[in-house]
Amino acid sequence: MTGLKLQGIRRSFSDPAPKLVLSGIDLAIETGEFVALVGPSGRGKTTLLRIIAGLDEAYEGTVTWAGGRRPRLAAVFQEPRLVPWLSVLDNLRLVSDRDRDAEARALLAEAGLAGTETAFPGQLSGGMQRRVALVRALLVDPEFLVLDEPILSLDPDLAQRMREWIGAYWRLRRPTVLLVTHDLREAAFLATRILVLGAGEGTIVVDLPVDLSHPRRQDDPRIEAIIEGLAHRDPMLLADGHDDGRDGRAGRPQPLE
Ligand SMILES: Nc1ncnc2c1ncn2[C@@H]1O[C@H](COP(=O)(O)OP(=O)(O)OP(=O)(O)O)[C@@H](O)[C@H]1O
Ligand SMILES: [Mg+2]
Repeated sequence: MTGLKLQGIRRSFSDPAPKLVLSGIDLAIETGEFVALVGPSGRGKTTLLRIIAGLDEAYEGTVTWAGGRRPRLAAVFQEPRLVPWLSVLDNLRLVSDRDRDAEARALLAEAGLAGTETAFPGQLSGGMQRRVALVRALLVDPEFLVLDEPILSLDPDLAQRMREWIGAYWRLRRPTVLLVTHDLREAAFLATRILVLGAGEGTIVVDLPVDLSHPRRQDDPRIEAIIEGLAHRDPMLLADGHDDGRDGRAGRPQPLE
């Protein structure tokens, strides 16, 4: 069953200068898929997530959900969006009842955040706040989980533990996941499908199924091959800078050679 169907999604901004960011996104995501959306800074990844999450309605085109209703959706955006005057546990209680405190504490512990329950967001590092936001999203028990670069500002070991945790959660609960990341390795480690948002054209230029079973090994050579294939298709994917979109490429989704 197609969980989500996007047809002809266009989004432009007029301020400070007119700019067409998404110029015709056609995409169907099946229920239970783990989709990674990659592309350098400025290509419109967050813009697309906001439309899917229902936070931006100033777009053209159609967003259709299976069964005609938006599923229970949770989102973690690039900024953690915690309420600064509430403790970590009280932030989590915004989405779950007090009788789920034990579950909240367990998820915090799994995220390496045991002992932070009474801390205020401002007392935590950016990476910790982002993990609290991730725990809050999981407490929603989402059918559709939107993750906008949830693994930033973490040391490599912890980052990998978080990836494994997200992967384990997906295997257990099978939400549909849409993960935005700059990190091709992260995409290839987790996703069942990788989408590349093209430079300049504002469309999806690569739609690559990742046919590897879960859980995956970080050192699986097939992950390396996927990364090389993607980088060959779009070298900007290996750069971390802002993409001004001038490097336009003709674009329909193409299989990798
Ligand atoms: N509210 C807005 N008003 C004006 N321009 C905007 C607005 N939101 C996004 N843009 C522009 O749209 C383009 C895409 O932005 P978006 O945040 O979607 O990129 P992104 O791919 O998520 O980048 P990053 O990887 O840095 O998060 C950028 O040029 C950005 O400046
Ligand atoms: Mg973004």
